[in-house]
Amino acid sequence: MSIDPMLEMARRALANAHAPYSGFRVGACLRAASGRLYAGCNVENAAYPVGQCAEASAIGAMVAEGDQMIVEVVVFTERAELCAPCGRCRQQLVEFSSSDTRVYLCGPEGVRATTTMGALLPLAFGPDTLGRRRTGGTAGS
Ligand code: THU
Repeated sequence: MSIDPMLEMARRALANAHAPYSGFRVGACLRAASGRLYAGCNVENAAYPVGQCAEASAIGAMVAEGDQMIVEVVVFTERAELCAPCGRCRQQLVEFSSSDTRVYLCGPEGVRATTTMGALLPLAFGPDTLGRRRTGGTAGS
């Protein structure tokens, strides 16, 4: 499946990022198992540690709509450097991913690198560790 719609949504979210402190705008887009797409941007705060990453914003949008299984992730930055999800985001993504969930690290020119949640967070502590079975949520079912 083409990731172009995800790239476009992440690009649009990035344009709305609230990143006046770092100047580092990030857009993210998730494809849920239902096929629905959810975008988010980073939302910084004058109290710096309170800021939220783009991936967390997208996760919030997804869960609010009833999806709970992520099959693909796009992280989009306009900077030249590769932007991979931070450690906190990796843990937040694992909550709703499998180790096969694909993660595309992107820039204005397109996909820069492709990886998986299993590679980004090996030996993850996740719902399975606590004996929780994933439901995927209610959207699309
Ligand atoms: N940021 C994200 O939105 N996602 C990441 O995975 C890495 C970092 C944001 C947080 C902060 O607003 C800015 O990038 C600089 O750290």
